[in-house]
Amino acid sequence: MSSSIDSLKLNTGAAMPLLGLGTWKARKDQVGAAVEIALMEHGYSHIDCAHVYENESAVGEAFAKVFDGGRRREDVFITSKLWNYDHAKADVRAACKKSLRDLQLDYLDLYLMHFGVASPHGQGIEPVDKNGVLLPAKVSVRETWEAMEGLVRDGLVKAIGISNFTAPMIVDLLTYAQITPAVNQIELHPYCQQPRMLEFCQHLGIAVTAYSPLGSQVEMNGNKPILLADPMIQRIAQAHGKSPAQICLRWSVQRGTAVIPKSTSPEHIAQNADIFSFELSENDLADLSKLDRRLRYVDPYEWWKIPYFD
Ligand code: A2P
Repeated sequence: MSSSIDSLKLNTGAAMPLLGLGTWKARKDQVGAAVEIALMEHGYSHIDCAHVYENESAVGEAFAKVFDGGRRREDVFITSKLWNYDHAKADVRAACKKSLRDLQLDYLDLYLMHFGVASPHGQGIEPVDKNGVLLPAKVSVRETWEAMEGLVRDGLVKAIGISNFTAPMIVDLLTYAQITPAVNQIELHPYCQQPRMLEFCQHLGIAVTAYSPLGSQVEMNGNKPILLADPMIQRIAQAHGKSPAQICLRWSVQRGTAVIPKSTSPEHIAQNADIFSFELSENDLADLSKLDRRLRYVDPYEWWKIPYFD
């Protein structure tokens, strides 16, 4: 087991380990084993979950085993996320409790608003109209955030944060928030570097977690270029005797972000944890910074026709 994985200090005072295991797109019949291997064999102490991934029960079974047989709950940082259809004040607490039940936990370390858009409750995960546009619900982000603040006060979650929030959304939220978000979880990798967003969040004391740090690979790519096949990343990987994935993950942590690569492959889970024994040089970082092409593998326009990040 690797000895220690560095952490980011959140504005709550808690430590969030830089490396977490992502569970988006992890199959129900594979995710439990992945979580167990990560926590028991490879020194992971951070697991990123979400209700909408539809696998939290399987993750919960793995947590039950792990906390029964080796790891202490308080040594593992666990995140879940509130889905768009649970934004109404009346639904936020029930949604959080559902994730807690599925994950077999008493509390979450972090609960994120998954996206800053609300859709109606009870009409499926992504209800769209006849033109393919996401159906809206008349719920403001403020209503949702204030309900999430109640979860902290009542001890269901240790910290709350946001995901996929743009700068104007953050600026607005801070006009009323009594609790500053601890984290903004956003897409970050060498093809989508968002240096100004990173700088802005850091300025506000909001920690940043990089999702899809490996460019999501096959699942989301469509006709988009494959990040791990990039010749520059491959060259740097070769020079360090590491894999392209390890270069992307190391790049993320050297920028001061947490990183949550998804994997259900034991080999990849092990490899992705081995990023704390080498360093990218200033030259490597300068070369990697040239790769930015503002390419989003996760673009809500493709699902909801909302030009969310335009
Ligand atoms: P697998 O689950 O078989 O490991 P992202 O976190 O950017 O969404 O990327 C997830 C994708 O990257 C998954 O397809 C995952 O497949 C793959 N992956 C995870 N770790 C590695 C690795 N070290 N090398 C290559 N592919 C990886």
